Amino acid sequence: MEKEETPGTILFVDDESSILEIAQEYFEHKGYRVLTASNGVEALKIMEHESVSCCFTDINMPEMNGLELAEHIRRKDNTVPVIVMTGYPSLENTIRTLKNGVVDFLIKPVNLNQMNLCVKRVLRERRLFVENLLLKEEVARKAQLESLNRDLETRVTELGALNRIMGAFTSVPESGDVFRRLVDMAQDLCGAGKAWFYVINDLFPFPREVVASQGCLPGSGGPEPALADLLREVAEDGLPFLLGKNSGTTRFSGITGSAMVVPLKIREKVFGLLYLVRDRFRDDFSDKDLYYASAMATHAAYAIENLALYENIYENLFATLYAFVSAIEAKDAYTHQHSDRVAALSVALGRRMGLDAESLDVLLFAGRLHDIGKIGVRDEVLLKPGRLTDAEYDAIKAHPVIGAGIVGKLGLWSREQEIILYHHERYDGSGYPKGLAGKEIPLLARILSVADAYDAMASDRAYRKRMPEHEIFLVMKQARARQFDPEILDLFLQMAAEGTLPA
Ligand SMILES: [Fe+2]
Repeated sequence: MEKEETPGTILFVDDESSILEIAQEYFEHKGYRVLTASNGVEALKIMEHESVSCCFTDINMPEMNGLELAEHIRRKDNTVPVIVMTGYPSLENTIRTLKNGVVDFLIKPVNLNQMNLCVKRVLRERRLFVENLLLKEEVARKAQLESLNRDLETRVTELGALNRIMGAFTSVPESGDVFRRLVDMAQDLCGAGKAWFYVINDLFPFPREVVASQGCLPGSGGPEPALADLLREVAEDGLPFLLGKNSGTTRFSGITGSAMVVPLKIREKVFGLLYLVRDRFRDDFSDKDLYYASAMATHAAYAIENLALYENIYENLFATLYAFVSAIEAKDAYTHQHSDRVAALSVALGRRMGLDAESLDVLLFAGRLHDIGKIGVRDEVLLKPGRLTDAEYDAIKAHPVIGAGIVGKLGLWSREQEIILYHHERYDGSGYPKGLAGKEIPLLARILSVADAYDAMASDRAYRKRMPEHEIFLVMKQARARQFDPEILDLFLQMAAEGTLPA
C-alpha cells in the first residue's frame, strides 16, 4: 500500500455511459484522475494495473453488479472506499450495501455537488485510515525488529558463553587447574553463589571434595550425609539434576535456595560431580544455567581425558628415551649416572634461583636426556680412552644437534629440546653448535652447562681421574664469563661453599 498523489484517482462504474461522461468531465476539471468502466468485471480489470483512491459504482449492471464488485474490492484492497449509486434505495439494498463494506450510497440521479462532497470526505477518511494502517504496520515492524534483536542478543550471548567454556578447557596444563576453572566458571556463568567439584568413582564411592569456589569455607573433605546421598544418586543415574527452592532442597541443612548437580564422565563413566547452589533470595537456576553447567562439565571431562592420555604418552616416551641414555651410560663405566647427577644439580641450582615448578620440571627432564644425542656417535669414538682426532671430536660435537633432533621429532618438549641443543654453548660465544653468546643462550641451558661441566670434572673419565674439588672450582672460576654465565656460576660456587649442592 502506498500513499498516492492528491487529489487522487476515481473509478466510476456504470452501464449508463452518459453518467460516466458527466462525472468524468466534472472531476477531471477539479484535477482528479478519472477512470471509467461499464461493469464490475471491467472495473476489476482496470484495478489490476491501476491504483485507485475510491470507486463509485451503480448496482444493477450486466456481468457483475455493483455489490459483487464492492466485495471483490474489499478483498483486494480494503482501503479503497466504494460508494454505491442507486436509483432504488430499498431497505434491503441499503443493508446489503453496508454488509459489503460500502462506505456510502448516493441516490440517482446524482447531484454533482453532493458527489464532490462525498469524494472529499471518503478520500480524507481513506487518507487517515491508510496513515493509521501504515503507522500500525510500522509499530508492528518495530516490535518485530526489537524481538529479533533480543533473540539475536540471546544467541550471541549464548554463543559467547559456549566459546568461553570451550576456550577455558583447552590447553590446561594440569587436572587440578581444570577443576579449579570448572568451579570458577560455573560460579560466574551460571550465577551460582557457591560451586564445588567432588570426585566420586570406584576408588572413592563416597564423594570427596576436590575444589570449592572462592568464598566457600574449606571443606572437611566430604559433604553431609543427605547431600552425599543426592550426589551418589546423580552419579549412579549419570544425569544432571536441578532442584528449585520449593522442590526439596530443604532436606539439606544450610541450603534453602536452588541447586544443580552435573556429572562429569569419561567414556560414559562418571568420575566426578559439579555441585552448584544459589541462595533463596534469588531466582532458581534456569534450564539455561543447567545447559551451561552441562557444557562446562562435558568440556572439563574432555580436558581431563586428554591430560590423562597425554601424561601417559609423555611418561612412556620419556621412559623409552631415558632407557637409551642409561644404555649409553652403561657402556661407559665412567659416565655412569652422569645425566642423573646433572639433572639433580641443575634442579637444585634452578630452585635456588627461584624458578617456577614447570621450569624445574623441564630442567629435570632435559638434564636426564641432555646427552641422548650420543646414541648417534660411534662407540669407538665415544669410549676412546686417548686423545681424540679433530674428526672424532667433530663427531662428538654433533651430539647436541642429534639429541635435539630425537626429542624434536617426537613433537614434544620444545623447551627441553632447546636445552639439549644449547648445553655446549659458551657464554663468550665460543661454544657449539651455534656459537650463541651471553643471554642469547637460553637460561636453562646456561644452568645445565654449569652442572654438566662440574659433574664431568668431579667424576672419573676414561682419559683422566676425577679432579679434587678445590681444583675444579679454580678451573670453573677461570672460565667465569668465558664458558659460564657469571651470575649462575657465582651462585653455584656459593652453594658449593655452603654445602647445599646435592651429594
Ligand atoms: Fe653433552
